[in-house]
Amino acid sequence: MNAQVCMDRKWWKEAVVYQVYPRSFFDSNGDGIGDLKGITEKLDYIKSLGVDVVWLNPVYASPNDDNGYDISNYFEIMQEFGTMSDWEDLLAEMHRRGLRMIMDLVVNHTSDEHQWFVSSRASRESKYRDYYIWRDAEGGKRPNDWGSHFSGPAWTWDSQTEQYYLHLFTGKQPDLNWENEKVREDVFTMMRWWLDKGIDGFRMDTINMISKVPGFPSVSSVDDGKLHYAGRYFTNGPHIHDYLREMNEKVLSRYDIMSVGECPLVAPELAVEYTSPEAKQLNMLFQFEHMGVDHGIDNKWEGLELDLVKFKSIISKWQTGLHGRGWNSNYLMNHDQPRSVSRFGDDKEFRVESAKMLLTFLLTLEGTPYIYQGEEIGMINSGFTDISEYRDVEIINHNQEIKESGGDLEKALAAYARMGRDNSRTPMQWTAGKNAGFSTGRPWINLARSWKEINVEADLATPDSIIKYFKELVGVRKRNLCLVYGEYVHLLPDDSRLFIYRRLFEDESILVILNFSGEEVELYPGKGFDPDEPGRMKLGICNYPAPGTGSVKMIRPFEARIYWNQDK
Ligand code: GLC
Ligand code: CA
Repeated sequence: MNAQVCMDRKWWKEAVVYQVYPRSFFDSNGDGIGDLKGITEKLDYIKSLGVDVVWLNPVYASPNDDNGYDISNYFEIMQEFGTMSDWEDLLAEMHRRGLRMIMDLVVNHTSDEHQWFVSSRASRESKYRDYYIWRDAEGGKRPNDWGSHFSGPAWTWDSQTEQYYLHLFTGKQPDLNWENEKVREDVFTMMRWWLDKGIDGFRMDTINMISKVPGFPSVSSVDDGKLHYAGRYFTNGPHIHDYLREMNEKVLSRYDIMSVGECPLVAPELAVEYTSPEAKQLNMLFQFEHMGVDHGIDNKWEGLELDLVKFKSIISKWQTGLHGRGWNSNYLMNHDQPRSVSRFGDDKEFRVESAKMLLTFLLTLEGTPYIYQGEEIGMINSGFTDISEYRDVEIINHNQEIKESGGDLEKALAAYARMGRDNSRTPMQWTAGKNAGFSTGRPWINLARSWKEINVEADLATPDSIIKYFKELVGVRKRNLCLVYGEYVHLLPDDSRLFIYRRLFEDESILVILNFSGEEVELYPGKGFDPDEPGRMKLGICNYPAPGTGSVKMIRPFEARIYWNQDK
């Protein structure tokens, strides 16, 4: 394929996305909760990073059972976050600075307090009954053995109309029935309403779960009374491509916007079916394979040591699998994942080096990079030690379950400290002052323990600032289409400490060398890789302040280098 065809240039391919979790970004009125005005106040900061797009986690009206992922009114703003006019100001101020805004679209489910569900559950005759998924009891039992994502069964009995309703998440997040054409039309109307207000796209929450396997089969063939993870029955279901094509035709294709779908249980071949231009569905998606390398299958609380060889092979498979066919989204964390430095780097001795190394990784792959608030200053996990510090419904429900079953609470607490979602949801650390400069009031969730040392002000005051390094990386990516569109070639695939790859584009060749370990590693020959090659190339970027004192071949702990075959 020639370079031109491969490229198919699009603004959303060349963009760098910065994710803002509104509840924890900046609080403008001292109630301890981040808000829209707070984001507006910090737009100059966001703009200064050089990013192009801001993804806002849900800001719609919500009783907050799952921090806004349970929407009670799609056309209103959550009171704690401000008003519609605050939101309009935010959008206008973003656009004025040349920043685009993408909003979260949560349409696999609503809140149980949404009018549709209130009416749906009121009577079997309601015109909204079929907006949700209702089933009779099977011999006095639940319709199947599916567990919900946040502990307990995926079905809740409603005594008023004597049926069960389906909820893949909490009981306060009933699943919409996408087979109902009226549901689809109402969702599309709502999407157009926001797009007509000027937003630049959607991040679609668990979007590949909207089509379920008919008949809702049980996972286990024997009725063992246990709950099971039923991902294969509710992800990538039989009508998923029809629904997304319809959404694309009726909504997305009518605007110059971007779309990214959150899609667990997707392999590259299927990702092409979702994201190729011919598919006419999504621009790109968030896959989860690389998020699974350090924990048990379907069990994130069971920690495993990070297997770098496996991690590299997954990334490489996605890089080559989508090249010229679909489009990747690259991320190492978000509001559902722990802090990337704590997970993939070293949050103690080499915090600064590893934070920069991981950013180098994100910005040198093919695909759109997503950075989460605080990643640009190397924020680390919360350090929470007491269950009372947690706010996440996933953790609270899990803990309840462990308590009831007499499980090991100490072990559970250690698992939350490592993998819990609240690790990334603690307030953004702006200064070493009161509440890290996030709020004048008591924050809704404790600050991460390390806020005094790790904050924007402190980072910018150091010569080896992570923010400054990040800006440099963003600049380099913008000036080099090779980093956006170039072909990816993986080198030394079996090495368990180094991650080395090339990017090739026309006559340009870029070599990226990353050390994912805390040890110094010497380069050695491998298929297609000559350790003397870096010595013949031009070093463009390095995350260590001074060049190595030893030989060019010695890669220092968590070192990152980008080399060019030509002057840049
Ligand atoms: C997605 C969101 C997550 C939420 C879940 C249910 O995974 O990212 O935060 O809890 O969907 O909406
Ligand atoms: Ca506030």
